[in-house]
Amino acid sequence: MVVTYHRPTRALIHKRAIEENIRQEIQRLPKGTELFAVVKAQGYGHGAVATAQTALAAGATGFCVATLDEAIELREVGIVEPILILSVVFPSYLSLVLDYDLSITVATRDWLSEAQEMLTEIGSDVPLKLHIKADTGMGRIGFLTPEEVKAAAQFIKNSPNMVWEGLFTHFSTADEADTAYWELQNQRFNNIMAVLDEKPHYVHTSNSATALWHKDFPGNMVRYGVAMYGLNPSGHALPETYPLTPALELVSELIQVKELAKGEGIGYGETYITSDNEWIGTVPIGYADGWLRKMQGFSVLVDGNYCEIVGRVCMDQLMIRLPKEYSVGTQVTLIGKNGSAEVTMQDVADHLDTIHYEVACMISERVPRIYKE
Ligand SMILES: Cc1ncc(COP(=O)(O)O)c(C=O)c1O
Repeated sequence: MVVTYHRPTRALIHKRAIEENIRQEIQRLPKGTELFAVVKAQGYGHGAVATAQTALAAGATGFCVATLDEAIELREVGIVEPILILSVVFPSYLSLVLDYDLSITVATRDWLSEAQEMLTEIGSDVPLKLHIKADTGMGRIGFLTPEEVKAAAQFIKNSPNMVWEGLFTHFSTADEADTAYWELQNQRFNNIMAVLDEKPHYVHTSNSATALWHKDFPGNMVRYGVAMYGLNPSGHALPETYPLTPALELVSELIQVKELAKGEGIGYGETYITSDNEWIGTVPIGYADGWLRKMQGFSVLVDGNYCEIVGRVCMDQLMIRLPKEYSVGTQVTLIGKNGSAEVTMQDVADHLDTIHYEVACMISERVPRIYKE
């Protein structure tokens, strides 16, 4: 997709905020526990490469991504630290995994057998680094029982082409006030650990929410995702353990301002009719930028005022009702602070009846990410 630089709509990414969020977490971690920055999905929409480099400067010692291509992107810009791919990579891609020195997830016994065949065919002299995934209650990927995990570990140890680098699980309710299910998953993970004769280099169970609200989590590495971008993993449910600073602002400018008489229709389908003489401003952002049609009725900020989005959001533009005339070029804040007012990513999520993770990912690649020191 073309990144649209020649337009005032942009996502400003504050590196200092990312650094600060990571530093605070690292300070709390027990000595010897590492922080891997989760930069999948374009760094949760913040840009993978720049956020990875910022995370490194703040003390992250490795990275987690979701796909092989995301891992390759980091290696191609010269990142040499460990990179773990959290989801399943088909065995047919293993030569790329080896070429780029990546660590990958193993979640089934069948995958191990197929991978073994592929590795024999490739004949590489460096072993494949594997993290065994235990499904302790997420129901997504992973081995279900301690016996299955033990057998997978044994398979890897018996293979000359494989090395057992990690063991992990993922908690599904770490961001909730009710800790019962978290404790059940934790118990299941501890049951797995209890049957193993030896441990791999990395044992990891913690996402942001676990790191924030379950300090006694097992493991020696955390997979720190949404909190590094300054977002409370629980939304509103739990108070932040330490103040998180949001890293992303979404801004634009007024490109036209006009006074319309009472009774004029705004936008496709004239779903909004001016109820008096009204100042209407046009902002160059629309659903092709990820600012969905459902954002109609929500507010953006101009000169510290909440201004309603009136009429349907178009593909590339939207209209807002202004309290008075403003000049073309006046800043519009869609996410962030403007004067004493603020629209947070959580506010957008609430309007859309979703979570801020989804809002961060929905800002499309057309919107340039501009990095602020
Ligand atoms: C396996 C795994 N670990 C860690 C994370 C990071 O989670 P969070 O962004 O909540 O910190 C994710 C994110 O979805 C994940 O899937």
